[in-house]
Amino acid sequence: MPRQFFVGGNFKMNGTIKTVTEIVDNLNKAPLDPDTEVVIAPPGLFLLLVRSQLDPKIKVCSQNVFDKANGAFTGETSAQQLADSNIDWALCGHSERRAILGETDAFVASKTKAALGAGLAVILCCGETLEQRLQNKTLDVVTAQLKAVADLIKEEDLWSRRIVVAYEPVWAIGTGKVATTDQAQEVHAAIRKWLGEEVGEAAREGTRIIYGGSVTEKNCGELAQQKDVDGFLVGGASLKPACRRADGNNIVVDIINARKHKT
Ligand code: PGA
Repeated sequence: MPRQFFVGGNFKMNGTIKTVTEIVDNLNKAPLDPDTEVVIAPPGLFLLLVRSQLDPKIKVCSQNVFDKANGAFTGETSAQQLADSNIDWALCGHSERRAILGETDAFVASKTKAALGAGLAVILCCGETLEQRLQNKTLDVVTAQLKAVADLIKEEDLWSRRIVVAYEPVWAIGTGKVATTDQAQEVHAAIRKWLGEEVGEAAREGTRIIYGGSVTEKNCGELAQQKDVDGFLVGGASLKPACRRADGNNIVVDIINARKHKT
């Protein structure tokens, strides 16, 4: 079965009630490719607002989740609470949380397990820093990040159906410096091979591996053509759905509809 193209929008800690509502209105009206799965991750404060106003075909993702169901964990939100609020997805392991909030591979794996256990699907992020890339450690870093999760989650159908792996080179996030199509394809193919060896054939075949890091309407077409690029995780550009190009087309719609470039 072909892998369904997937585009996620990560708003990070951006937006107000007004601007987030505008983005939602715009997505509700946009001519989106019905064969692409679309998920947006607004700031936690706006999850319920977005869920209540967004077309139900588009799913909502929390940017974070804790690994306990409830209790004395001030400031955290559990997977059970997200599921109770009809939030279907959680982002785990984003490099900003790894670097700024000190999340370890083991903690990311524990959160991923908790999210899946509560019935959520997970966008699992991995990626190397520039220093690690220059030291030729890209695949070691990425596979170590994924292995921590594979140690806890062995079921292949959880990988193929409920985990989307987002390869996001840290040096490409928010920098305008996108990985070349060859760099992206090389790592995506290596992750797919690794999935086959460490998790199993169904995970290798079925798990979607999406690219993140300075994706725009300009570079998405070429990236989408790559065999192992199954979609995108979009930060900055996901905040600009109201932004129209001179020809009247919408930037975010172009990214969501990039599947048409798939050969
Ligand atoms: P960017 O962010 O598109 O702004 O580079 C991507 C991400 O962090 O998910």
